[in-house]
Amino acid sequence: MSHNQLSANGHLQHFLSIEGLKRPLLTEIMDRAEQFSSISSQQVKKVPLLRGKTIVNLFFENSTRTRTTFELAAKRLSADVISLNINTSSASKGESLRDTLHNLEAMHCDMFVVRHSQSGAAEFIAQHVAPHVSVINAGDGCHAHPTQAMLDMFTIRRHKNHFPDLRVAIIGDILHSRVARSQIQALATLGVGEIRVIAPKTLLPSDCQTLGVHVYHDMEAGLKDVDVVITLRLQKERMAGALLPSAREYFQCYGLTEQKLSLAKPDAIVMHPGPINRGVEIASAVADGPQSVILEQVTHGIAVRMAIMSMALGSQAEHKEVLV
Ligand code: CP
Repeated sequence: MSHNQLSANGHLQHFLSIEGLKRPLLTEIMDRAEQFSSISSQQVKKVPLLRGKTIVNLFFENSTRTRTTFELAAKRLSADVISLNINTSSASKGESLRDTLHNLEAMHCDMFVVRHSQSGAAEFIAQHVAPHVSVINAGDGCHAHPTQAMLDMFTIRRHKNHFPDLRVAIIGDILHSRVARSQIQALATLGVGEIRVIAPKTLLPSDCQTLGVHVYHDMEAGLKDVDVVITLRLQKERMAGALLPSAREYFQCYGLTEQKLSLAKPDAIVMHPGPINRGVEIASAVADGPQSVILEQVTHGIAVRMAIMSMALGSQAEHKEVLV
């Protein structure tokens, strides 16, 4: 993946991957999201930053959280937003992705928010749009889900503040998880002290050691003294062949229960990007328990996506005028 996400003057044009982005930019996203968070709790949840801009949600794969929070974020920035239903679009009549894009561009769109089951789809689109159009990756295959990673970093910062002091464990299907890849890149860029992955060998990528993580196959050892526990769904739709004995056995070994969580620090937070599968990767008592910040992550998705969209489409001067 090689598309430049920054324009010639160094501003964010596309948001395709965390890879290659520097710490100050990730920090700016979180700082802006902090400002937008307060807007979401006002009676009138709108600012005129993207008034006159047109944003199209192009979701070729199912979504609840990402699609809805992108749509709400665009509306709160006063943009015109369309969520194209791919199942009822002319893609079902054989229209190619490139032709669909060019037709939407002819309607003078300013941004595409893209989710696709193929890794690299968002980058492909970014390479083929007009220069003034921004592309945001809302999840592509097993490759990246950078806005999810940023809302996760924002959630961690809200609770834990200083990244270098933290020990973070990511549990489960790392192999197929675009979220885990983006999280690991973001955690490393923000200087997190120790990043652990806990998974059976069959659910780890072959390049795991090069990601700069500590690998554990055992929950007891992996969870010891961590500050942040991130659980992941088994991505069955991306698994070719049987990589696991059964969901029941998986839960016994890798399901996050209250007992296993007690090995982490007492004030550890529990995160999950969703959708959660109760009784597979996480017990209900943990998902709904006092250490869970899973629904907070969803709420933060709006402010973080407002931040990213406004950085890609809005002017710095307008941002200062409206928010400072
Ligand atoms: N976290 C996440 O991407 O959820 P959705 O698939 O519901 O968008």
